[in-house]
Amino acid sequence: MLNATSAVLVTRTVVIDEAVRSAGNPQLVVLGAGLDARAWRMSELSGAVVFEVDHPASQQDKRQRVDSLEPVCKSLTYVPVDFGRDELGPALAAAGHDQASPTTWIWEGVLPYLTHAEAEATLLAVAERSAEGSRLIATYPMPNRLAALGRRGMQVYSRLTGAKDPLENERHVSAWSPEQMRSLLAAHGLTVTSNVDLFATSRDLSIPARQSRFYGLGYAVVADKLGG
Ligand SMILES: C[S@@+](CC[C@H](N)C(=O)[O-])C[C@H]1O[C@@H](n2cnc3c(N)ncnc32)[C@H](O)[C@@H]1O
Repeated sequence: MLNATSAVLVTRTVVIDEAVRSAGNPQLVVLGAGLDARAWRMSELSGAVVFEVDHPASQQDKRQRVDSLEPVCKSLTYVPVDFGRDELGPALAAAGHDQASPTTWIWEGVLPYLTHAEAEATLLAVAERSAEGSRLIATYPMPNRLAALGRRGMQVYSRLTGAKDPLENERHVSAWSPEQMRSLLAAHGLTVTSNVDLFATSRDLSIPARQSRFYGLGYAVVADKLGG
């Protein structure tokens, strides 16, 4: 499980970094930032203002961990938001996000934890605050019955052996087909420029990945707010 997970994490990091670089926007908003390290490691962000949005509890933990580290971006602002309860748009506005200037949005490894309604509410705020030239980069899982069975198997195995289920607190409530994702983004004014299968991409990048149909490896989508 760790091997498969690390292969997909490396792959999505490469894909997302490249999409952030090529957009070159003056603002970056990381939605559900977790331990995202881009503000500390991507020198290409030296001229960018970065906002890290996350659940207050996760963000507090992150802030303790990075306390002694210096970001390499122009500025870094933390925006605590629970996507299930709080309003993203006003929170970003209050934090100084500029709606009139292009933004790159990263939504990495977060969609499985959100209901479809929470995902749509977040996307609505993203669309409203995306000036022309903005870009959304998201990873999402495909509906995968075998992966669901694998998670259930892990639960049963852990119960029977008395071991801790590593997926116990990992909600996995949503999945989209590439077509559903394309329509959802189009409905919010975002045009898909690439939508890649992460397992196939790991192969293209020669990242050693053992394929198992029990893992839902998912897709990475890049969608742009075009002019006109
Ligand atoms: C698997 S981590 C991904 C972290 C990071 N984006 C990455 O790819 O390494 C999931 C993140 O989603 C955030 N998250 C999940 N549900 C959330 C919610 N309802 N509101 C805000 N953040 C949420 C968690 O706090 C966590 O930081």
